[in-house]
Amino acid sequence: MKGLILSGGKGTRLYPLTYTNAKQLIPVANKPVLVRVIESIRDAGVEEIGVVIGQTGPQIREVVGDGSKWGVKITYIPQDSPDGLAHAVKISRDFLGDERFVMFLGDNVIQGGIGALISDFAHNDWNSQIVLKEVENPTAYGVAKLRADNSIEHLIEKPENPPSNLALVGIYMFDQNIWEAVNSIKPSGRGELEITDAIQWLVNAGYRVFPHVHKGWWIDTGKPTDMLEANSLVLEELTPTISPESIIENSEVDRRVTVERGARIINSIVRGPSIIGEDTVIENSYIGPFTSIYHHVTVQNCEIERSIVLEHSTISDIGTRLHDSLIGRNASVRRNDEKPRSLRMNIGDHSNLWIV
Ligand code: TTP
Repeated sequence: MKGLILSGGKGTRLYPLTYTNAKQLIPVANKPVLVRVIESIRDAGVEEIGVVIGQTGPQIREVVGDGSKWGVKITYIPQDSPDGLAHAVKISRDFLGDERFVMFLGDNVIQGGIGALISDFAHNDWNSQIVLKEVENPTAYGVAKLRADNSIEHLIEKPENPPSNLALVGIYMFDQNIWEAVNSIKPSGRGELEITDAIQWLVNAGYRVFPHVHKGWWIDTGKPTDMLEANSLVLEELTPTISPESIIENSEVDRRVTVERGARIINSIVRGPSIIGEDTVIENSYIGPFTSIYHHVTVQNCEIERSIVLEHSTISDIGTRLHDSLIGRNASVRRNDEKPRSLRMNIGDHSNLWIV
């Protein structure tokens, strides 16, 4: 079995962070989402993985390389434009050949891995299997209607009257019949080759498509709020460690905090679950639960809670607590004491600022 990770796309919902950075490389609990995806596929026993890349391909290649760091073999599959999930599958034909494969969206985070799914598919003669999850608001998702024998009868995008509360999660298994499906479907109203259309094509052609209902949590990190939610959930599951190469001075760091190599925490309080990245300095500050501060960040005289701060940023002397925030790379947030007292901003396109 092979793996296919979709890591192209535009990431418009995560602007401005994704103007310059691949969304799949945004870290959740200080590890890029894409690396979490690679690890879950590897842990399920699949080592040959194709990664579909778009405009941000060079960054992804730089971080992931040939995959040997994670014990897998990566083949890159460039997609000229993000023409849909089924299009991404279509252009991966040479890599996948006629092997069965698991396809995973590169911006999804799932609890507990995909080992059970892979063995389910391996032990059945199904042509495709799709991961579903019970959700409270099925009208916001692609939803599956099941037959009495539990097979998939119908997939409906954002239904007004949902036939079930089972939403499609971004993980799918296919055999070689998917090739005829992706070659037969036409672009949807939004101009994309939709994977739901390809799966519906399989169902209509009489192929055996079955669900795997996932019990744990699952987050599609498409929007900033999802990113913060995924960060909180993953932090809760992290086994905390304090690097012997870190310095903690005159500070209160609770037992659910991970402190990485070279980090320095001085005159501060850090409450877990949270993580402080490599060579980051926290001084005279409070870092609250569900916070991930990435590498080479400086935080001075601040309070930060339930937030993600990316590398090489500086946050200092902010009068109010920073909460539910996503701060990009090389950003600077600081107090302005110059006269006249005013807010000064130098923020990118599509940025959001909430002022109190
Ligand atoms: P989406 O979140 O559906 O699309 P997007 O990444 O373009 O984001 P936005 O809607 O905010 O603009 O994509 C899901 C995953 O699939 C994501 O990892 C990107 C990837 N993808 C491709 O690789 N090729 C494609 O053609 C599309 C549409 C997505």
